[in-house]
Amino acid sequence: MSKRSKSSHRWLTRQRRDPFARQAAADGQVSRAHFKLAQLDERYRLLRRGMAVLELGAAPGGWTRYLEERLGGGLLIACDPRPISASGDTVVIEAAYGEAETDALLSAALGDCGLDLVLSDMAPNLSGVRAADQAKSMYLADLALEAAERHLNPGGDLVVKLFQGEGVDAWLDAVRARFDKVQLSKPKASRPESREVYAVARGFAGDTSVPGDESPATSPG
Ligand SMILES: C[S@@+](CC[C@H](N)C(=O)[O-])C[C@H]1O[C@@H](n2cnc3c(N)ncnc32)[C@H](O)[C@@H]1O
Repeated sequence: MSKRSKSSHRWLTRQRRDPFARQAAADGQVSRAHFKLAQLDERYRLLRRGMAVLELGAAPGGWTRYLEERLGGGLLIACDPRPISASGDTVVIEAAYGEAETDALLSAALGDCGLDLVLSDMAPNLSGVRAADQAKSMYLADLALEAAERHLNPGGDLVVKLFQGEGVDAWLDAVRARFDKVQLSKPKASRPESREVYAVARGFAGDTSVPGDESPATSPG
């Protein structure tokens, strides 16, 4: 068996054994990922009807569909460079957050309105080199915090996917300085073998930036 077909075989076997993947297929869901958001929402009561929410790393659209159902009538902005399956009411920004024009598109979509919640399920393309992949994932976490600092209303919340490893503690310290309360959570639908966890930060303090200290997150390349 070729290397490629061996890994697809492993993937198929894992999907067949995974109760969340089976349930997602049976329900006609876009992906199994929405279970993670549903479990975080159930635990932390994150979503209310009418909220303004930014979703970073939205493709293929599992979380987007869950959000559309839960927000009913609110503002949902979904951002990803890959295609997102979304309803007509969702504002789709098909671009990478962190690129020059993307925040301008986001500001235009928001107008005078601030956000109540920033969600990031962003994940980098993995190279297999652990240190490089970790640096890329921390860069995405920095971008999510930057989006929150720019657009979140005081009192708003931030939920960010992290991969446990180098840089997480310093990132959490930065978040704790800006929010009332920060907790780490691993939803049941997150694969146990994955280093993935979610930081749930509640109660944004408002603009805490130091004048002159507005340097954007820098890409690890
Ligand atoms: C795990 S997937 C998200 C799954 C999604 N939450 C769902 O339920 O279908 C991670 C996504 O992060 C996206 N991503 C990576 N870097 C990004 C960036 N700078 N801006 C926006 N999305 C990004 C990838 O394109 C990928 O689609």
